[in-house]
Amino acid sequence: MRYETAGESHGRALIALVTGVPAGLAIDVTAIDADLARRQRGYGRGGRQTIENDRAVILSGMRGGRSIGSPLAITIANRDWDNWTDVMSPTGELSAGARVTAVRPGHADLAGCLKTGATDARDVLERASARETAARVAAGAVAKALLRTAGAEVASYVTRIGDVEAVDPPEPASVDRAAVEESDVRCPDARAAERMRSAIDAARAAGESLGGVFVVYATGLVPGLGGYAEAAQRLDARLAGAVTSIPAIKGVEFGDGFALASRPGSEAHDEILHDASGFRRPTNHAGGLEGGMTNGETLVVRAAMKPIPTLMKPLRTVDLSTLEPADASRERSDVCAVPAAAVVAEAEVALVLADAYTRKFGGDCMGDLLGALAAYRERI
Ligand SMILES: Cc1cc2nc3c(=O)[nH]c(=O)nc-3n(C[C@H](O)[C@H](O)[C@H](O)COP(=O)(O)O)c2cc1C
Repeated sequence: MRYETAGESHGRALIALVTGVPAGLAIDVTAIDADLARRQRGYGRGGRQTIENDRAVILSGMRGGRSIGSPLAITIANRDWDNWTDVMSPTGELSAGARVTAVRPGHADLAGCLKTGATDARDVLERASARETAARVAAGAVAKALLRTAGAEVASYVTRIGDVEAVDPPEPASVDRAAVEESDVRCPDARAAERMRSAIDAARAAGESLGGVFVVYATGLVPGLGGYAEAAQRLDARLAGAVTSIPAIKGVEFGDGFALASRPGSEAHDEILHDASGFRRPTNHAGGLEGGMTNGETLVVRAAMKPIPTLMKPLRTVDLSTLEPADASRERSDVCAVPAAAVVAEAEVALVLADAYTRKFGGDCMGDLLGALAAYRERI
């Protein structure tokens, strides 16, 4: 299973094209919309989220609520397009009003203009904007439908915003998912959540922005997804690539990650036990991955998001049109988007895992996939 997206931030619509979806997968469009709404939420978002009300429209690849094995095209309209037709018209005369030349440090503006020869950074930033991640979330919801059918679930929560850190639960799978969904910072630790909101308020008042850390975890995975034999199959690498493909994600670790580096081996690895229910581990330092494969424990991916680059108290930059010093441009912007990024990362993780299921158990139709999965479970 793979996806591609198209669409600019203030263009007419976003498109996700998902290929490799097995035939016969029941896909509930309201579940896609629910994930789109989860991506839109979060304390610290900018004004754009009050304009948009993201809804998925399936253009192809489904009949009667099920996939038919052909490419799935999903579109999400940009409601804000109506306000930008004179700036974003694909074919018409453009008004110069929204030209961006004071390129923002931390964003794609400068490198994108140098790379493409653009003299108006809007040509770059319209696509580099994380508005595009709505399309990824729609594609990810399809992957989640496959995983759910195969008995696996992907979820997320936030552990840090700026310098406020939540108490991390010992086992992500024990997190109260309802509490996370109710929290506007996606944090299960209510006291930390309160301090996170205050930190976001203070950042907004100061013209600042904040980053943070979140965890994406997946339960119910069979062991052996991914592969040890070839670099491209190793699930750690595929997951790290997928999660760091999200704008502003600058670090990823699995399980205890960087902390493993300072421990002796006896405190770093998870002993192997066996009982009537099969193999199990008393600990999960590895975060559910060994040798590039799932090992049957909860998959735990932790990611760091840098602060939002657009600042209301702008950093110094250079104006591309004059090469004179300037204040970086200000677009309407989020102050903090860590909760939203966690939802996007759920989608990316789900897409990698769903692809791993189709590779291991067959991608033509769900009946074959589930049959092969049942036989595998029986064997192991
Ligand atoms: C969900 C989400 C929302 C974001 N919102 C904004 C925003 O409102 N303003 C902004 O400048 N950057 C925002 N970003 C971050 C930029 O898209 C990102 O920093 C930029 O594309 C440069 O890419 P890089 O940070 O990976 O180098 C957001 C990122 C995500 C994942």
